[in-house]
Amino acid sequence: MAEFDAIIIGAGPGGYVAAIHAAQLGLNVACVEGRETLGGTCLNIGCIPSKALLHATHLLHETHENFEKMGLIGANPKVDWARMQAYKADVVGQNTKGIEFLFKKNKVTWLKGWATIPAPGQVKVGDTVHSAKNIVIATGSEPSTLPGVTVDEETVVTSTGALTLGKIPKTMVVIGAGVIGLEMGSVYARLGTEVTVVEYLDAITPGMDAEVAKSFQRILQKQGLKFALGAAVQSVSKTKKGATVAYKLRKDNSDANLEADVVLVATGRKPYTARLGLEALSVEMGPRGTVKTDDHFQTNVKGLYAIGDAVAGPMLAHKAEDEGMAVAEIMAGKHGHVNYGVIPGVIYTTPEVANVGKTEEQLKEEGIAYKVGKFPFMGNARAKAVFQAEGFVKLIADAATDRILGCHIIGPMAGDLIHEVCVAMEFGASAQDLALTCHAHPTWSEAVREAALACGLGAIHA
Ligand code: NAI
Repeated sequence: MAEFDAIIIGAGPGGYVAAIHAAQLGLNVACVEGRETLGGTCLNIGCIPSKALLHATHLLHETHENFEKMGLIGANPKVDWARMQAYKADVVGQNTKGIEFLFKKNKVTWLKGWATIPAPGQVKVGDTVHSAKNIVIATGSEPSTLPGVTVDEETVVTSTGALTLGKIPKTMVVIGAGVIGLEMGSVYARLGTEVTVVEYLDAITPGMDAEVAKSFQRILQKQGLKFALGAAVQSVSKTKKGATVAYKLRKDNSDANLEADVVLVATGRKPYTARLGLEALSVEMGPRGTVKTDDHFQTNVKGLYAIGDAVAGPMLAHKAEDEGMAVAEIMAGKHGHVNYGVIPGVIYTTPEVANVGKTEEQLKEEGIAYKVGKFPFMGNARAKAVFQAEGFVKLIADAATDRILGCHIIGPMAGDLIHEVCVAMEFGASAQDLALTCHAHPTWSEAVREAALACGLGAIHA
């Protein structure tokens, strides 16, 4: 039986970051992971493999749509699905091995296997019980399906199966117009699949700035995705050729059906906290299977912490990472903190969609007076030069103080552009602070500055 300062359960972005940072802070750390490779859902079957497929299919789309316009003439590339899958696997392998290297470098012990917590201060892996001053639950989440839907990961798939389909389907129904549905729907639409997205609500991407969501839907429709909104899926039944999705249109309760070779269920994820033995320890749980924690990530059991998808808040790798850093600091006797008001969200489609802070809808509800500075990528020379002039930057600032309250971007590199606004918000900056900052020309970032200018006397190029 080994004794550790901290044992982290789960080596996803929350867990591995917590482990590495705790080791940096001088703690003797172990991280338990039952998968063959480190990195959790994000690296193995989530963010990273999906980005590889998004990148490859984006380039395919560029060759078909834009190469000739730039005078690039030649044979049209065709898709070798097996090689694209191999490329994706290689990207995953490089990243997961990278974490293994970092564990060795930082002297984090990888305990291979699935953990249970038999008693406070104890973690059991296989037949061995290890003791630890601190334990962190960083076990992540798993897809949550719908009643009446049985997933087989071949015909009826979650994101996991969607990443490794045996062949490119002719038709696909995506249930849920959230991040997973739209990212994977984009991948297959670019590969030639006829994709229909069925969404319960009347708009796509719930919670997103309504203007951005509308513009996003229009752009995706132009790319060939079809949408059935206000449609509540009732069941999915397998047929000889694929599956039938039965749904009810909420406006008149009428029934409708869609047939498809493959159905992707992308209706959210749920915390993966069963089988740890939390019930026997009387660990208090929150809504939807989350582990309840205090402001310092500690559960009602002393020395037992929880972070990431297993606790409340957005299920995002970088939110988990930040909580991992913070919990490591706390376990080392320092002050860990996460600013939940400045957590960006990104959808990696083309164009990308990114947001941070408040939406107009939220501010209206909260009764806060605000102003909006908007700048279209149509006015950005760089975006126009590379056929990516769709979309806009929308910066929201306090009407009285000019302090930045939020930013919503749909356009090229939105997922990177958002971070200058995050930094500005962390420093309590005003829109004018951004507007007075020199931005290199010609860059996409200039669109952010122009949106900041639009909060004042007006943008220059619009
Ligand atoms: P989501 O919560 O983003 O979207 C699920 C959608 O399914 C919602 O729009 C909901 O209204 C709809 N829905 C639910 N029941 C339905 C029904 N019966 N019929 C029709 N529609 C129905 O969930 P998603 O896309 O599965 O993602 C899961 C989690 O993973 C999210 O928290 C997301 O933020 C995270 N994620 C983040 C990524 C990123 O940051 N780029 C990438 C992939 C996932």
